[in-house]
Amino acid sequence: MGCLDHWHPVLLSKKLKRKPVAIRLCGTDVVLFRTRSGQVAALEDICPHRRMRLSLGSVVGERLRCMYHGWTFDCEGAGESPATPKLYACAKQYDILEKHHAIWVKSAGSEAAFPAFEIDGYHNVCNLQHQAQAPLELVVDNFCEIEHTPTTHAFFGYPLERMHEVQVDFQPTERTVRVVNRGPRKRISWFLRAVLGIGRNDQFRDEWTTYFSPVYSEYDHWWQDPQSGAESRVRFRLYIFFVPRDDHETTIFTFAFTKSRYWGPAGGARLLGWLMRRKLDYELRLDVRILDGLADKNPHVEGMKLSRFDKVLGLNRERINRIYRGYGLGTAAGRPNYQVDQVDSHADGATDTQCH
Ligand code: FES
Ligand SMILES: [Fe+2]
Repeated sequence: MGCLDHWHPVLLSKKLKRKPVAIRLCGTDVVLFRTRSGQVAALEDICPHRRMRLSLGSVVGERLRCMYHGWTFDCEGAGESPATPKLYACAKQYDILEKHHAIWVKSAGSEAAFPAFEIDGYHNVCNLQHQAQAPLELVVDNFCEIEHTPTTHAFFGYPLERMHEVQVDFQPTERTVRVVNRGPRKRISWFLRAVLGIGRNDQFRDEWTTYFSPVYSEYDHWWQDPQSGAESRVRFRLYIFFVPRDDHETTIFTFAFTKSRYWGPAGGARLLGWLMRRKLDYELRLDVRILDGLADKNPHVEGMKLSRFDKVLGLNRERINRIYRGYGLGTAAGRPNYQVDQVDSHADGATDTQCH
């Protein structure tokens, strides 16, 4: 399988209205359009006649009309020319689905399964789309370690002065990578602590599993008293998809859910929704700002000096290459990218004093 063969979220549904929308997925330009009857379609964003961008055209009834000479295409890409009715023209078509308030696309006929959302008992509070000016691997790196949370994040994560107390555990399988973190929580305002039901002595719990068809992580965030085991009143489950526009830019789609022990419809999810949307959007923008500031956007790990939290970089890269990109293990393309042999694994946080 190649990148385009997996189901990717490419646009929030609310952004596809009357006008066609151009998106870019894995270096391929695609036009999305919604017909008058509401059906959605995805075609390669190039007219087979004289290569006009179809996304500059318009929707007419159930067809997309190219703005250059007026040829039209249906949802399967079958074209008609008003001036030459017997001409056969075909635009390349992609499989498309509308689910979880987003438009999802993959190459036609590929056998990839649609990603499963385990959300029984959870309520959707918001769906967000952000743009990072960095390649897929570097974006995934940022979202798969918690050493950056003290300095980057305002709300989720651990305090810098107690990072050495944070425990991290890696649980890789053939097709997934699970990371489990626990440690002292960041300082949180009394208001948020009251709203979320976070106890004074609670630790922050942060666990996620990363999947690779397509590349996304399922995160669980909550707070818990280490002695009594009592949990915060609200916990979060986030599905974050890392969708490469091309080799240099990645779109981040976040589908956010909460489970709450409050009374009322959906555990007060509507009231929480407004607050959480603001908080999450802010936290994700902080991640994007960090990624914008990287001095070197080469996705390879060679030359990085890695810490005990960074073992996941190599585990993820191996699966990105094998499962997502479909590189054979023995190919040159697959080999050098995931060698992480310089991880400092001192669990007590001791530093390696040698500079190489
Ligand atoms: S280029 Fe599209 S109709 Fe001519
Ligand atoms: Fe982050």
